[in-house]
Amino acid sequence: MTGPAPGLATRVVEWQRAHGRHELPWQRTRDPYRVWLSEIMLQQTQVVTVLGYYQRFLERFPDVAALAAAPLDDVLSLWSGLGYYSRARNLHRCALAVVHEHDGAFPPSAAALAQLPGIGRSTAAAIAAFCFGERVAILDGNVKRVLTRALGFADDLAEARHERTLWARAEALLPDEGIESYTQGLMDLGSTLCTTRQPQCERCPLADLCVARAQGRPSDFPVKTRRLKRHQRSNLLLWLMHGGRTWLVQRPDTGVWAGLWTLPEFADEAALAAFTAGWPGDTARLPAITHVLTHRDWLLQPVAWRWPHRLPPADRERLQRSLPDGRWATSDEALSLGLPAPVRRWFEGPLPFGGGDAAG
Ligand code: ADE
Repeated sequence: MTGPAPGLATRVVEWQRAHGRHELPWQRTRDPYRVWLSEIMLQQTQVVTVLGYYQRFLERFPDVAALAAAPLDDVLSLWSGLGYYSRARNLHRCALAVVHEHDGAFPPSAAALAQLPGIGRSTAAAIAAFCFGERVAILDGNVKRVLTRALGFADDLAEARHERTLWARAEALLPDEGIESYTQGLMDLGSTLCTTRQPQCERCPLADLCVARAQGRPSDFPVKTRRLKRHQRSNLLLWLMHGGRTWLVQRPDTGVWAGLWTLPEFADEAALAAFTAGWPGDTARLPAITHVLTHRDWLLQPVAWRWPHRLPPADRERLQRSLPDGRWATSDEALSLGLPAPVRRWFEGPLPFGGGDAAG
């Protein structure tokens, strides 16, 4: 005799145990520091990219106290290349909060974790499920796709009330036991089988109860109408060289590349021309790059300028006083700072003019 077909949660748990991922470095621990670090890195970034960063972070900052004690610049420097730098700033703020407000221990519930900087509802739930076995629902982008397809949830998630309904449905589906496998299983399904394009429904444990599949339209889910319009922005960056060093400025604490070191930025040619009017030395245009941000494409045009080698000290001082607040850095010094990925790549390559000053 066969019983009723197992429900969604049971299938996810059994599938995860038999076919899910078990060897990821953050899976063999219930240490909230390690799990939290992985979950923050995995927001908006794929597993293969995270692996190396995760290892380097743990070597440098083996626990939350070490991370909290480090200067923010060191954290940003190790984060360089992972993108979305507000995550790194919040990571550091969160470590400080855990050390100073929670005696160095992550609070053991999703509700309390969600009060910490950079930890949203889904991330808090993932940490609480993995580390404390708490029965709470996650709902990140991948899981929204899995659940809206399985349930045939066709309401527009651009509306907050529909998103709230989906959270409630996700909570109602939780298994009585095996929350760790269930949580990991939803993540694994979302990133391996129930993918945005060409989902592998034949291999999916939910195939015969999946509403979207029965309707023959998995790619219509999730429904989210408000599409982000992409904007363009372009800026000139001044690569000023003198004595083998480059003038670097630190970005403000908010906005794109917050707190990272970069080249001085100008709105357009006229602004750069006005700024450099009367400067000695010579100039060259370098290849432009496009940096893709969440809501816009950012065209960056570096313009190199080198001052003459024999610059009278008074002139040098006057010129330097006109620069925006910053510092001179050799390539090696620059590479030890928190740099945005494209700027890092520039410093890993040859310097403009081969690093030399203009004659004179
Ligand atoms: N994405 C977010 N969290 C993850 C996890 N714990 N394992 C794999 N991918 C993830």
